[in-house]
Amino acid sequence: MRILLLNGPNLGRLGQRNSEIYGRSTLAEVVEKAIDHAARRGSTLVAFQSNHEGALIDRLEQLDFDGVVINPGALGHSSYALRDAVEGIGRPAVEIHISDVHAREPFRHVLVLEDVVIGQVIGRGTDGYLEAIDLLLDRQA
Ligand code: DQA
Repeated sequence: MRILLLNGPNLGRLGQRNSEIYGRSTLAEVVEKAIDHAARRGSTLVAFQSNHEGALIDRLEQLDFDGVVINPGALGHSSYALRDAVEGIGRPAVEIHISDVHAREPFRHVLVLEDVVIGQVIGRGTDGYLEAIDLLLDRQA
């Protein structure tokens, strides 16, 4: 399976930003682990991060993958455009949030991608990316 790992706004600063919430791993480290994990399961993974909603949607529209793992960042609480893009690709997507968004501020409790993803991994730290890959691959099998 070809997996696209998509990270939204501010996730490029993982490891530096709010490390008490998001941990000390950088995005590059997280991506490297994700690539290795996918490879061990016979899959390939490519990663893309952007702070821009439209760039994330453009990347999804390339359709050069079989499934998506997406951490939409704060866009996950508000972006119907990103939600519609995920719905429109016709490929399975798993949403991941590093932190437990349900235990944080009320605005983070709303997850607009919820009904267009096949699963969610929430509050499992950066290892949640690996769990999200497993969820995607297990659903495909
Ligand atoms: C996040 C949670 C969001 O609320 C926040 O805006 C992020 C990161 C997470 O991975 O826990 O940027 O998606």
